[in-house]
Amino acid sequence: MGNDTEARWATTPRSPGTAGYRDGVSAHAPIVLLIHGPNLNLLGSREPDVYGTATLDDHVATSTAAGSELGLTVEAHQSNHEGDLLDLIHGARGRCAAIVINPGAFTHYAWSLHDALAAFDGPVVEVHLSNPNAREPWRHTSVIAPVAAGTIAGFGGTGYALAMRAVAAILATSIAPA
Ligand code: DQA
Repeated sequence: MGNDTEARWATTPRSPGTAGYRDGVSAHAPIVLLIHGPNLNLLGSREPDVYGTATLDDHVATSTAAGSELGLTVEAHQSNHEGDLLDLIHGARGRCAAIVINPGAFTHYAWSLHDALAAFDGPVVEVHLSNPNAREPWRHTSVIAPVAAGTIAGFGGTGYALAMRAVAAILATSIAPA
């Protein structure tokens, strides 16, 4: 892993001309791209017995607040379209320090998302509100897990705050002095 990658994961501000500076990223709080996949725009009213009553905006607010406490800027997007999610992930390359993703049902079969995330240099944290492993068998497979640093599942909205803590810990480790 080269210096550029370490610089891009930097959690402390740096200035142009100093070691570790990389345009548009590490001069400010690292950007964490928070991505939600299909049907998650319906949170709040969608199967509340499974997913709770908090809305997507609530989860974004939780993530943003947790990120802010950790020195991270959270940029949130949701789409029901696989191609839009791919474009978001591609756009994060060289710009975002990490990706936190709840891919919805794409988790279980969207290999294009797997490949796009594999081409992203920073850490990826997979989040699920429910615990897919405790549900129907088809939910037990995640094609995202192999390219994620880890998965947080089954803790409802708390999972987003945990994900931000995981990202901060990984980024801090990645720039720790040798
Ligand atoms: C989910 C779990 C998926 O199996 C499901 O398709 C979703 C939501 C979760 O957050 O628990 O849409 O990702």
